[in-house]
Amino acid sequence: MQNNNCKDIVLSFEDYTSKLSVILPKIYGRKPLACVNTFGCQQNVSDSEKIKGILEAAGYGITEDDENADFVIFNTCAVREHAEDRVFGNIGRMKALKKQRQGMLVAVCGCMSQQQIISDKIKNSYPYVDIVLGTRHSHKLPEYIYKRLTGAARIFDISEDFSEIIEGMPIHRDGSLKGWLPIMYGCDNFCTYCIVPHVRGRERSRCSFEIVNEAKAMVAAGFKEITLLGQNVNSYGKGLSEDINFAGLLKKINDIEGDFRIRFMTSHPKDCTTELLDTIAACEKVETHLHLPFQSGSDRVLKTMNRKYDSTTYLNLIKEAKKRIPGVSFTSDIIVGFPGETYEDFKETLRVVKEVEFQALFTFIYSKRNGTPAAVMPDPVSRAEKGKWFNELLLAQEEISKRNYASLVGQVHRVLCDEVKENGKLSGKTLSAVEIEFEGEPSLFGQFVNVKIDRFTNILEGTKI
Ligand code: 5AD
Ligand code: SF4
Repeated sequence: MQNNNCKDIVLSFEDYTSKLSVILPKIYGRKPLACVNTFGCQQNVSDSEKIKGILEAAGYGITEDDENADFVIFNTCAVREHAEDRVFGNIGRMKALKKQRQGMLVAVCGCMSQQQIISDKIKNSYPYVDIVLGTRHSHKLPEYIYKRLTGAARIFDISEDFSEIIEGMPIHRDGSLKGWLPIMYGCDNFCTYCIVPHVRGRERSRCSFEIVNEAKAMVAAGFKEITLLGQNVNSYGKGLSEDINFAGLLKKINDIEGDFRIRFMTSHPKDCTTELLDTIAACEKVETHLHLPFQSGSDRVLKTMNRKYDSTTYLNLIKEAKKRIPGVSFTSDIIVGFPGETYEDFKETLRVVKEVEFQALFTFIYSKRNGTPAAVMPDPVSRAEKGKWFNELLLAQEEISKRNYASLVGQVHRVLCDEVKENGKLSGKTLSAVEIEFEGEPSLFGQFVNVKIDRFTNILEGTKI
């Protein structure tokens, strides 16, 4: 059910934001607090910064503590079952909280709630949830909160209008050193295991003018690291009226004056061109690190996954990147136990892992996602067996990571100091996204520092030079 049947006048985002900011202090007798609970990937973290910005503009203060909040929203992830279970557990906690806190509202948004089946489940089994939104409805929050607070029934809006990118929304950034910058939304790839294209819609790129302006504003505000986000940044530009691709966008952002770094994720191997590799090498601000998910080393499995490359193409791409980008490092995502995968297939994955020598891996056991093609494929291997393969992969990678890190000892790197650790040491990442710990004054936080790598224990340790 959609409850936005405002037939008389259509009010804008600004109208509802200002109407809400007028009634909130009257309802609560003070400035109310909002808590945004985020699950899942960096895209969600970035979306949550916008949600916080919108709530702030509407008159809420932001809190991390949902027990003290008057409005709690769960920005959810649907990529694996485990994430979904966690979300439902957390929503369940709201029942008792809501009884104690008069006027408290609970909302759910993001990839989980974009699915009709989940929206219905919340409608039927979680009556204390007031508002359910999909992945592209954050700008509707002031309207729906206003309506709910002024007597409307529970509101469910997961309508699938993905066409428009709404620019100019307020944003409340979580940090002031490293920031997210979405360059595109959605995904067109339909990997057969993945729910993302079903809940985030088709690929839409932001125009480069908006992106470059946002990047300039971030640099002017003191950000030293900007991470460009998209499900597949390598296909940036598709469908735009301007003639631009991801390499072109990187060049434009690299040309912005200032001492800062550009990171990006995620890259799809099928769209990673030599032009892009050369651009990464030529742009001094762009990280020399590629997060290049290959998912499986078995050509048969890759085909069933609809990944549109085979292991040879992937390995050639890695060779090309190593040749063209000095000091490049690689990370990857891997799925273990895709339906129909055999131990022989899994050994192919191990083969690729050993050949590439990744810096680190993000490994997942396949999780069945209803509505995806893989969900109906025969999946005879037991979870226990998949677990064994998974552990074998972790052990193999541990050895490789150690070797990789040890080979860096003696090198000097420019790191962005982004953490003061509990033990008082500082920590920062190289342009190739490798973390180094070193001694230094806390005032170095937020600065670029040259560090010589002295040793590798379970971490890389170095000295400021
Ligand atoms: N099961 C397990 N892992 C998955 N991923 C995406 N969908 C699934 C799934 N159904 C992993 C992929 C992707 C990463 C973000 O999550 O490896 O690259
Ligand atoms: Fe999912 Fe594949 Fe799109 Fe990545 S590229 S979001 S794995 S469908």
